[in-house]
Amino acid sequence: MQVVSVFFLVGVVFVPVGVVSLLAAQDVVEIIDRYDHACVPPNMTDNKLAYIKNDTISKECTRILTVTKEMKQPIYVYYQLDNFYQNHRRYVKSRNDAQLRDYKKSNTTTSCDPERFTADGKPIVPCGLIAWSLFNDTYSFTRGKENLTVNKKDISWKSDREHKFAKNVYPSNFQNGALIGGKKLNSSIPLSEQEDLIVWMRTAALPTFRKLYGRIYVDLKANDTITVRLSNNYNTYSFGGKKKLVLSTATWLGGKNDFLGFAYLIVGGLCIFLAFAFTLLYLIKPRKLGDHNYLSWNRHPAGR
Ligand SMILES: *[C@@H]1O[C@H](CO)[C@@H](O)[C@H](O)[C@H]1NC(C)=O
Ligand SMILES: *[C@@H]1O[C@H](CO)[C@@H](O)[C@H](O)[C@H]1NC(C)=O
Ligand SMILES: *[C@@H]1O[C@H](CO)[C@@H](O)[C@H](O)[C@H]1NC(C)=O
Ligand SMILES: *[C@@H]1O[C@H](CO)[C@@H](O)[C@H](O)[C@H]1NC(C)=O
Ligand SMILES: *[C@@H]1O[C@H](CO)[C@@H](O)[C@H](O)[C@H]1NC(C)=O
Ligand SMILES: *[C@@H]1O[C@H](CO)[C@@H](O)[C@H](O)[C@H]1NC(C)=O
Ligand SMILES: *[C@@H]1O[C@H](CO)[C@@H](O)[C@H](O)[C@H]1NC(C)=O
Repeated sequence: MQVVSVFFLVGVVFVPVGVVSLLAAQDVVEIIDRYDHACVPPNMTDNKLAYIKNDTISKECTRILTVTKEMKQPIYVYYQLDNFYQNHRRYVKSRNDAQLRDYKKSNTTTSCDPERFTADGKPIVPCGLIAWSLFNDTYSFTRGKENLTVNKKDISWKSDREHKFAKNVYPSNFQNGALIGGKKLNSSIPLSEQEDLIVWMRTAALPTFRKLYGRIYVDLKANDTITVRLSNNYNTYSFGGKKKLVLSTATWLGGKNDFLGFAYLIVGGLCIFLAFAFTLLYLIKPRKLGDHNYLSWNRHPAGR
């Protein structure tokens, strides 16, 4: 009977937790805008690669978003990439954590192939493909004539800033090669303050992921019109990736995530079901517990 009570208890705890998380997720307001297609000039939609690779073509783009429901600050600004394999084996290994963490090792670039040295043999900091492919689209927001400032402070994990990226290691020789992979870094700002990099380097396990870009500390009203000015720099066209801009409110549970709620509900429901099933089984066909006849070593070796 102990097993049954454990199942029952787990079920009784999990089901309400699931319901509460689902309700919390309902309250989250999200605006998602896919812009990688819309930002290609009409005469270049057949040749997106030529567009993104040609530096003389402007990458500026304007998007108009309408707020569907009141959004209370802080409003989280994310970029979402789809079909981007940040967990690819070759990619995920192409970094050197010691270099990022420790000044004395800042010239160590082991395991960073193919982004270890510049053409003239100088060590690259931060080295590796992950850093090299740093996301470089930018967003700014206005509502009517009012600028909505994006606060980019504290977008990364505190533990990363304090323990994984050093205060005295500065980017050097970064993004200096013939092929630019993404955003450049200001070489007079230490790695511990390069928060976009820190966020990017915490690699995602799934090919669709969101990363925090900043926060807006303004309440938005229903029907507000937000103008987004963005620079559509990052090349996802070469691998068919999508780019989306996400504005989202948050609850105490984080963003809009139904998965957790459903998971609790399913596990809780299953436990309660099992508890009932076992009880029923027990009532119908009680089994004597501790009967030594059931223990195999007491039986006669039958036919062995
Ligand atoms: C596309 O149109 C823009 C003007 O809207 C023009 O500047 C540009 O040269 C055109 N590009 C091509 C490939 O025709
Ligand atoms: C880049 O775009 C400009 C203007 O549209 C065009 O004249 C030029 O040929 C393009 N360059 C390349 C390398 O395609
Ligand atoms: C790293 O190497 C450069 C030369 O490539 C040198 O100037 C610099 O002092 C070295 N830094 C450390 C921390 O050893
Ligand atoms: C809003 O930002 C733009 C670009 O940064 C700036 O030119 C403009 O003066 C700002 N407007 C206000 C009202 O602060
Ligand atoms: C942004 O990244 C792309 C690669 O995805 C690169 O080709 C482009 O030059 C970069 N642009 C800027 C402005 O950093
Ligand atoms: C780099 O950062 C320094 C220190 O914050 C700042 O003074 C400088 O203007 C920045 N340079 C660029 C190119 O943004
Ligand atoms: C938003 O617009 C819709 C349709 O135009 C209108 O019915 C609604 O009352 C508006 N809501 C607010 C809060 O102004």
